[in-house]
Parts: sequence; C-alpha cells; structure tokens
Amino acid sequence: MRDGEAWLEFKVKDPSLAESGRLQIEWAEMHMPVLMRLREKYGEEKPLDGVRIAACLHVTKETAVLVRTLKAWGAEVYLAASNPLSTQDDVAAALVEDGVHVFAWRGMSPAEYEWAISRVVESHPHIAIDDGGDLHVYIHEKAPDVGRGVIGGTEETTTGVLREKALEREGKLLYPIIAVNNALTKFLFDNRYGTGQSTVDGILRATNILLAGKVAVVAGYGWVGRGIANRLRGMGARVIVTEVDPIRALEAAMDGFQVMSMHEAARIGDIFVTATGNKSVIREEHMKLMKDGAILANAGHFNVEIDVDALERISVSKRRIRDNLDEYKLPDGRRLYLLAEGRLVNLVAAEGHPSEVMDMSFANQALATLYILKNKGKLERRVYDVPRNQDEEVARLKLETMGIEIDKLTPEQEEYLRSWKV
Ligand code: NAD
Ligand code: ADE
Repeated sequence: MRDGEAWLEFKVKDPSLAESGRLQIEWAEMHMPVLMRLREKYGEEKPLDGVRIAACLHVTKETAVLVRTLKAWGAEVYLAASNPLSTQDDVAAALVEDGVHVFAWRGMSPAEYEWAISRVVESHPHIAIDDGGDLHVYIHEKAPDVGRGVIGGTEETTTGVLREKALEREGKLLYPIIAVNNALTKFLFDNRYGTGQSTVDGILRATNILLAGKVAVVAGYGWVGRGIANRLRGMGARVIVTEVDPIRALEAAMDGFQVMSMHEAARIGDIFVTATGNKSVIREEHMKLMKDGAILANAGHFNVEIDVDALERISVSKRRIRDNLDEYKLPDGRRLYLLAEGRLVNLVAAEGHPSEVMDMSFANQALATLYILKNKGKLERRVYDVPRNQDEEVARLKLETMGIEIDKLTPEQEEYLRSWKV
C-alpha cells in the first residue's frame, strides 16, 4: 500500500476490519483527554518530524491513540505486537489505514512474533518504545548496529525495566532508556487500578463465574497484585495473598488479606491469579494439591508464572471449553482450568486496561519521546526514571480533565514547611 510517497509495509490479519477499529479508536480518544491535549499542544510544532519510532506494544485502541499522537507530531511509526495473543485485529487494520507500519495479528506463532519485531527493527529507529523488553533485547542481541543509532528508548512495564536494568548492570546497554513504568502517574494507577479492573474483566469474560463467595489466591502483592486483590475482594471473593517479600506480605496482612504460602493456598483456592513478574510461581507440586475445578490465570507480563508445561505433562487430556478457557484433566479425574493459555489474562481475554488509565501511561510515553530528543547526546547509557516535572504535568492535566481542583500552599504555609521553627 502507498502512504504518500513511501511504500507502507505491514502485516495484519484483515485490512477490511479497519472501519470497526476506527470506531474503537474514536471511543478511546474520547476517554484519553490528557494525551489528546498533548497531541494538540505539539501538533503544529511537529517535534517528531523526521523521527522514526519502532514500538513493541499491545496493539489496542489505547495504543492506537498513542501512535496517532506520535504521527501527529511528525513521526514515522513501526509497530509490532508485545504479545502473540493481545492484538485487537480491527485496531491493527485501522492503524494501517492511518499510515502506520503494523506487524501484528492475534494468534501469532513465536516465530511470527519475533519476525514482527525484526521488521520494526529493520526501520533503523531513532527511538524504541517497548513493553516488556523484547524489542530492546532483540536490538541488543541481534541488531547491535541498529542499537548504536538509537537515540533513546522507553519501557512500559515492571518486567521490562528489570531486564533493561540487568543490561545496564552488565555494561551492555547501547542507549538510554526512560523507565516510563516508574512514573508515579503510571504504576500507581495503571499497574494497580488498570490491571485490577481488567484482570477481573478477563476472568469474567473467560468464565462468567460468580466471584462472590469464591476463594481467590493472588500471588504477589506488588502494584498489580494489590489492585487485583482489592478488586476481587470488592466483588465478594475471599482473597488470600502469597508473597516472598516479608514487608509486602505484612502489608497484605494488615490490609486485611489472609497471607499464606502457595503450598497451603493451593488446597483451598477456587481461583488463582499470578502477578509477580517471576517464573514458576504455580508449579506441579501446587497443581497436584488443587481442588477439582480450580481456575488458573496470570496477569504478569510473561507466560512463565504458571508452569503450563507441567500442567500439560501431568494431564491425561485437554479440551477447549470456550474462548480463553482450557480444561486439563488429571489422572485422578480432577479438572483444572487455565485461562488465556497462561498469558496476560486482562489483554487476552479482555481488552487490557481501560482508556482512562492508559491516558496517563501513554501521556508519559509520548512526553518521554520528546525528552529523549531534547536531551539527545546528554544522557548516558542508563535506565532513567521519568523526570518529576513530567510526572506532575501528567497528574495536573489528568486532574484538570477530571474537573478536580486542588488547594495551593499559601506563602505562609510554604514558609512554615521550609522552617525548623514551629
Ligand atoms: P512489583 O515488583 O511491584 O510486584 C511483584 C511482587 O511479586 C513483589 O512484591 C514480589 O515480592 C512478589 N513476588 C516475586 N516472586 C514471588 C513469588 N514466587 N511468589 C509470590 N510473590 C512473589 O511488580 P508489579 O508492578 O506488580 O508487576 C508485576 C507483573 O505484572 C510484572 O510482570 C509486570 O510487568 C506485569 N504487569 C502487567 C500488567 C498487565 O496489564 N497485565 C500491567 C502492569 C504490569
Ligand atoms: N497494557 C495494559 N492494558 C493496555 C492497553 N489497554 N493498551 C496497551 N497496553 C496495555
């Protein structure tokens, strides 16, 4: 397809789905006022004119609002999926019509997933936007020459930041990376309220079970785990938390959750949700203790938290009950139910976080691209937090668009807070 003068390269499931995708994007734009204001603010200036951006993000209506913003600022955008099952095919098609090089469709094989990343890397990007680290790691391992031309990158999620900090520790980072995940206006809201709501949404869409009265086990009491535990409790589930960090375990206990080991929880849980960013959190030894009918779901970035290989190995049969719900039968007749193949249940079985919360996450992503360009040549090859003034700008804009006014310190109060005198 031709986009202006350049050939538009892309691969999506079905370009004819574009009309439906356009409507979804319009709906998201209506609920992402901060990003829309920023789009307008820098629209005439075109600060990304001539800038090539490679992005590896879940291809959702909210990502489309970010990508359209980057395009409105002048960028040429190459977009690969951040998970083989999370792409909304109609949105991908609509983005192609917008002139975005999209390489994403729902149900990609692992080889196709990697191929899509290789295609966006071949664009020789100036900026690389990632969610989970697969794009940055690909560049570092397979295309270091491309990496040496990257001005800077960004990272959307906790797991990605951990991987990129590991590259930094080993002295291998080829360009600076802004840890968008670590912005307060990101993790306090996206990881907690976004994942909290959308994980419950995913579990319900996949199963349509009643949560009231169920025993739900949440593994991990970080920002994501806290959100999920609270939302499940809000729906009437009795929630158990498992942790490895004594401080977080204590916090969960004092927040009113039962805290115990996975070994203990495995026998009593009806629903298990992993949210740790770690591997093999639910293992064969736990599965062997679970009740007939137990449901297993994951909200962490990678599909490594539930040992799906072990589940396959110990099962005598497997069948698909409905979309995103697979039944595994154990030799003694007990049945365990795996949601979304153990991948992020909120993005595979539902639509990911609601637009209102992605508004702040992606406002941070957009502003981080401007920060990278403004500081070209000044940043070291390190993982940086988002500057505090950017975080505050996003919070201020969000409050404004929500119609919330807050108080200002009086000069007398400012003086009082600066002084050691009472
Ligand atoms: P976090 O670091 O705040 O919390 C993780 C918690 O898990 C920590 O408290 C840690 O002690 C605990 N933990 C580690 N190993 C454990 C184990 N074996 N058993 C029990 N607890 C264990 O991280 P976070 O921001 O909450 O993110 C968690 C995961 O969710 C990451 O993979 C992140 O990338 C992902 N994430 C997913 C979404 C989504 O849309 N599904 C959104 C944001 C983040
Ligand atoms: N991560 C979690 N929810 C998301 C969404 N709606 N769009 C893109 N990335 C996400």
